[in-house]
Amino acid sequence: MKIAFFDSGIGGLSVLHHAIQILPDEQFVFFADEDNVPYGTKPREDVLKFVDDAFEFLLTLNVKAIVVACNTATSVAVRAMRSKYNLPIIGMEPAIKRAIDLYGDRRVLVTATPITVNGEKIKALINKVGKAQLIDLLALPKLVEFSERQEFNSEAVTTYLKDKFAPYDFTQFSSIVLGCTHFNYFKDTIRAILPDNVKFVDGNSGTLRELMRRLNLQLPEINNNKQPHIEFYFSGRKITDPNELDRINNYLKRLDKMQSIN
Ligand code: DGL
Repeated sequence: MKIAFFDSGIGGLSVLHHAIQILPDEQFVFFADEDNVPYGTKPREDVLKFVDDAFEFLLTLNVKAIVVACNTATSVAVRAMRSKYNLPIIGMEPAIKRAIDLYGDRRVLVTATPITVNGEKIKALINKVGKAQLIDLLALPKLVEFSERQEFNSEAVTTYLKDKFAPYDFTQFSSIVLGCTHFNYFKDTIRAILPDNVKFVDGNSGTLRELMRRLNLQLPEINNNKQPHIEFYFSGRKITDPNELDRINNYLKRLDKMQSIN
């Protein structure tokens, strides 16, 4: 049976990209809700409905687990989905705990969508981590739109980020948490703006560890560079058009480049 990765758009590919490397023997379904992206600036009730529709569809594909590769959808809908559907559902939250564990008592800039930043779930997470005085939250909704149109390094992206980062004294920060899966595409652009002491932290490896734990999966002993089988869907339509498959491949190639940027 296959493992589904779900996101509002192409951000979830950053989690799938990692999964392909560590779990080459699995079969994957990737579902991007391209008809409804972005989620992060929409009313929560709308997002709940989009996620529920996507789950209904994914269950027709006979999947053994769903990874919600979207912090926004997790913030709004994961609890409701877990009480409605009876299969392992792995959510994603901004990796704030990981940033504090890795870098200790220095400031952390947590970037995400407006829904995630304003949601109750992130407040609960910050309380649980217990370092509220070290955490700054910053919504970067335009990065979702930029990445959906494959615009990663333009003047407009750089100006947007410089403007959003301007209020912070980055000498005080250890790290920037990429709390939206669409943000992984911008690591080179962000790296060129922020000083080297500010490291990237994302939730990809933690999410996949949780997936492996839930499904009792092991890392393969030898990595034979096998390409796992993946089916792609945009809002319930199977992608077979070579141009659309090319677009997806371009994102995966960009993620290859982003991977080594810390
Ligand atoms: N990729 C999503 C996340 O991780 C949200 C993007 C959006 O649709 O606003 O939060």
